[in-house]
Amino acid sequence: MAAVRSMGYAIVNATDLDAWYEYGTNIVGLQVAERTESRIRFRMDQKAYRLEINKAEEDRITHIGWEVAGAQELEELAAAVSALGYDVQRPDAAEIADRCVVDMVRFTDPDGTVTLELHYALHDSLDRFASPLGHVFVTGTGGAGHVFQLVKDVKAYETLYFDTLGFRLSDWIDMKGLKLTFTHCNPRHHSYAFGGGVEGLPQAIGHLMFEVEDIDHVGRAHDKVLNGEAQLINSLGRHTNDKMISFYMNSPSNFGVEFGTGGLLIDDETWTPTWYTDTKYWGHSDMVKLAADDPKNFG
Ligand SMILES: [Fe+2]
Repeated sequence: MAAVRSMGYAIVNATDLDAWYEYGTNIVGLQVAERTESRIRFRMDQKAYRLEINKAEEDRITHIGWEVAGAQELEELAAAVSALGYDVQRPDAAEIADRCVVDMVRFTDPDGTVTLELHYALHDSLDRFASPLGHVFVTGTGGAGHVFQLVKDVKAYETLYFDTLGFRLSDWIDMKGLKLTFTHCNPRHHSYAFGGGVEGLPQAIGHLMFEVEDIDHVGRAHDKVLNGEAQLINSLGRHTNDKMISFYMNSPSNFGVEFGTGGLLIDDETWTPTWYTDTKYWGHSDMVKLAADDPKNFG
């Protein structure tokens, strides 16, 4: 059965491109691939880009790109998603070329929170990746990172991600009574995590996670955030399930960014899901009092 291989990219609408330039380069350590009046494209590895920020009147994540292996997988998944009742569209050739992929289809996710783009063959750059801070991002078969989303219709997300897009269960965390489900589509412990179905919770992407190889780079970014260069949401800590040492900060578009190192790799031959009663072994303390319904409170 065809299945998503990894997170290819994320696309964001942002009111302040200058803030994103500063944040992306000086805290996350991303390389600028393109900067115009209307957008910034950031690289984190050999791919042409992994994060695109578009100038807009709003701040939100608009698209998540899920990479598949090729044309046949794209057609199979497009047909399966369409059979579920989603309106699956194929953008025109100019838009597909602009995304730097060979082909893609897209549809709106169950809650209408974000547009999902199934694509293949995200271009490799001809230029060697060079982080302005010397960061080496953990990508490759694990893709760009992971997404955590608060959802309304949990069943619809289970049906879409598990039964249709081919994600497999990693584990669950019971977070103060909220069941969070972690899923993988490659050796990265989770590429997509979600929770919700509870009255009063918002529907939004809570955070994106980017991983680097060197804990000193995580520590230096944490220092900059402690120094006020971005808003610290959760202090440095270690997750129970993927064992990642990370911290959470606010992005210039008011969604969380988890920045960490040492994430667990798993394989489907041997992996057995479990559940945890907390998200962390230590740390990840709440450093800011967010509104109870702020999506950045979760995950
Ligand atoms: Fe995370």
